[in-house]
Amino acid sequence: DTLTTLGDKTTTKYVGAAVNEGWFSDASYSGTASDYYNLVTAENSCKFSAIQHTQGSFDFSSCDQVQKFAEDNSMAFRGHNTCWGVNNPSWLDNGNFTSPELVDILENHVTTVLKYYKGKAVAWDVVNEAISDAAPYDLKLNTWNNITADEVNTNYVDVAFRAARQADPDAKLFYNDYNVASSQGWSQGKSDAMYNMVKSMLDRGVPIDGVGLQMHVGTGYDLVDGVKANMERYGDLGLEVHITELDLVCSQKNGYDCVWSDDMEKQQGELYATLLQACLDTEACTNFETWGFTDAHSWLEDGTHPLPFDENYDQKKAVGSMLDTL
Ligand code: XIL
Repeated sequence: DTLTTLGDKTTTKYVGAAVNEGWFSDASYSGTASDYYNLVTAENSCKFSAIQHTQGSFDFSSCDQVQKFAEDNSMAFRGHNTCWGVNNPSWLDNGNFTSPELVDILENHVTTVLKYYKGKAVAWDVVNEAISDAAPYDLKLNTWNNITADEVNTNYVDVAFRAARQADPDAKLFYNDYNVASSQGWSQGKSDAMYNMVKSMLDRGVPIDGVGLQMHVGTGYDLVDGVKANMERYGDLGLEVHITELDLVCSQKNGYDCVWSDDMEKQQGELYATLLQACLDTEACTNFETWGFTDAHSWLEDGTHPLPFDENYDQKKAVGSMLDTL
């Protein structure tokens, strides 16, 4: 039996990609996604703004397209996300809602979405990107953060997770964030803050099953040791870890000087494979997922070559390196 795709080669872990239903009609796009992966996440269409663009009216049509794509191709569907401070509809951000009103809105959204997809999603990012980027790493100021601790004797993160567990007791509930992948070096501060937040949730009996490490990083990052150690400490808490939004950008911005070449493509491929190996070697890590899969459709700037397939859906060196790893 020759297994040729990423998703087929592993039965115990997901190898996934974020997809955008806008490109499904392109056979190269949908074919590559379904051939190579065994899990998909909607890049945008299951977010708050897509589903509840108008207050109180729930539109699942775009999110459904991604969920059905997964179902039709026997892939897992991963929900992203029910609560985020960014890209929210203007009625929500400009509504000047009181704390109790926001609690109602949040509970209603989380409950409606998780119930609608009950049994169809393997996991949900219940809360996305709540932690600030600098010490003391408090919760970011955003609409949801107007839910005051006084009001609910806790914070909005707890509110969202409690509602999610009640709505679908079988869905795995994740907290997802960026700059939290490594417990050493470049992301240690925020990583530790996330670990402490999640540990405190567990201590207080707030339901959570895992953490998502986004990993929007670059070809020059030194990632491996710190990422493995980080995943292991979540495993020790009994949590799962998903690498959720990996992309390895080659760019000449922010003091990071990368010139794309055969050699750089090889280096990028090796880093993809090393990270996949770290996930395979770590029991707690159950999903290895990139944010898109082709350089033709990435949220990152053109010419930065972040993903495993090139603009023409041809395999870059990353695909071979990852297949060798499995
Ligand atoms: C991004 C999408 O890729 C873009 O198309 C959209 O314009 C903005 O959101 N962290 C996340 C994702 O959790 O939801 C973001 O996705 C990328 C950063």
